Amino acid sequence: MSLSAVVDGVGSYLPEKVLTNADLAKFVDTSDEWITERTGIRQRHQAADGEYTSDLAVEAGRKAMEHAGVTAADIDLVVVATATPDLTFPATAAITQAKLGIKQGAAFDLQAVCTGFVYAVSTAEKFLITGQHKRALVIGAETFSRILDWKDRTTCVLFGDGAGAFVMSAVPEEEAGGRGILSSHLRCDGSMVDLLYVDGGVSMTQTAGHLRMQGNKVFREAVNRISSAMIEAAKVADINPSEIDVFVPHQANQRIIDGVVRKLNISNEQVISTIAHHGNTSAASIPLAFDEAVTDGRIKRGDLVMLEGMGGGLTWGAALLRY
Ligand code: ACO
Repeated sequence: MSLSAVVDGVGSYLPEKVLTNADLAKFVDTSDEWITERTGIRQRHQAADGEYTSDLAVEAGRKAMEHAGVTAADIDLVVVATATPDLTFPATAAITQAKLGIKQGAAFDLQAVCTGFVYAVSTAEKFLITGQHKRALVIGAETFSRILDWKDRTTCVLFGDGAGAFVMSAVPEEEAGGRGILSSHLRCDGSMVDLLYVDGGVSMTQTAGHLRMQGNKVFREAVNRISSAMIEAAKVADINPSEIDVFVPHQANQRIIDGVVRKLNISNEQVISTIAHHGNTSAASIPLAFDEAVTDGRIKRGDLVMLEGMGGGLTWGAALLRY
């Protein structure tokens, strides 16, 4: 029996506290005009003291489970994509599993920075279609505010905290009616670590460190790499990227999104952009945008949806799914 990995539910969560561009301009040499023009970001959310990545993951996960109509007893795999785990170990996925009352199956973290959610969806799909697990809770959750250098205007204005989640189920192909993950393409070029990294870690410095990025160099790599992964993902389904119904990009920079849209002849009406109100939330940004579009009706059951991400590694990738 062939199985499909179907997205049954989505959910997301943003912490209560909001930092606007004007708030940032009070303590770093920047302006609302610069940030808006260069990135499209107007505000970002910040986790409260004592609010951890797993807490954000739990909120998003709980909403996705409610949306899918499942309970803790139905989930047998938890994958959390994060670059900002609660602790060095155990995995944030293990902590999240316990907080959600899930007592069976496996749980692990996945680290591909801003491409984390695409990597996690693709990984969960493999576990589901082989029949090894039945229902996965796939979460992207980050507290990037904890690894930002708040004196570095070139990075601290870009990132925010948040979480988003999918419930994905293994469904016999004949019952799935064409729904599910159709293809995914994951890539990494580890020779470009210097462009985007955190300058601390357990083995090297025994500190958490701060995010460092040569933004303009990353920017130059972005459009071509993202577009080529999308073209490959579309090829498997025998379509052109412009034939998708909805495009849910990683929300890093509006100019990168616009560049991909232009290159692949996607129309602006097909694009979900939520960057203005939460900034770059790394692995959380795709499910945050996806959930918003499901809630407001821009993504409907049966739609052909393309996801893409690019981030530290450099990693990048795309996934095509029928929702
Ligand atoms: N406010 C005001 N001025 C600023 C700011 C700021 N916040 N930040 C930088 N500047 C200045 C720079 O100092 C520079 O000044 P100079 O010309 O006097 O030297 C000028 O603005 C232009 O700087 P650039 O870095 O060339 O600006 P750019 O147009 O490239 O925009 C940005 C910077 C927004 C970072 C962009 O390059 C970008 O989005 N890069 C890609 C980021 C990305 O996608 N990362 C991957 C995902 S993240 C992850 O994986 C964790």
